[in-house]
Amino acid sequence: MTDMHLSDVSTLRERARKNVENGAVTEGYSADREEILRLLNESLATELVCVLRYKRHYFMASGLKASVAADEFLEHANQELEHADKLAERIVQLGGEPEFNPDLLSKNSHAQYVAGKTLKEMVYEDLVAERIAVDSYREIIQYIGEKDPTTRRIFEDILAQEEEHADDMADILKDL
Ligand SMILES: [Fe+2]
Ligand SMILES: [Fe+2]
Repeated sequence: MTDMHLSDVSTLRERARKNVENGAVTEGYSADREEILRLLNESLATELVCVLRYKRHYFMASGLKASVAADEFLEHANQELEHADKLAERIVQLGGEPEFNPDLLSKNSHAQYVAGKTLKEMVYEDLVAERIAVDSYREIIQYIGEKDPTTRRIFEDILAQEEEHADDMADILKDL
């Protein structure tokens, strides 16, 4: 077992009263907050770039009358936006500022924005982007470890959905 010990009630109460202006960030928060905020903002950029890419693919695929792919693109766009919202919310809880500056998004994003000309190119690029997201979120989860369980759980939930997204794109790609 580890040598960890639980704080007694009076210590917890006393600590909670210190630095109340830090909101959700208490003295027991042991992660490197600046680093966590940087990772959250990079991930926010990744999600927002993915929203834009899926939106383009949705409208382009609708034009190509590729309705199965179009439905998936739209569903993914909406889910990436939910991911972005969860990350932005967590950034604010940790006392940071979510970066929505469009000039910085593609620079900070792990995944790239690739327009794609044909349906096959679009699905391929989406699959690549999902695989990048899966790898980077898995690494972030490992990095966070036990230091910030709430942020880790957010990334774990998002990761599970990115794996589904990758699987969806791989399935569609097989039939193209
Ligand atoms: Fe996402
Ligand atoms: Fe995704």
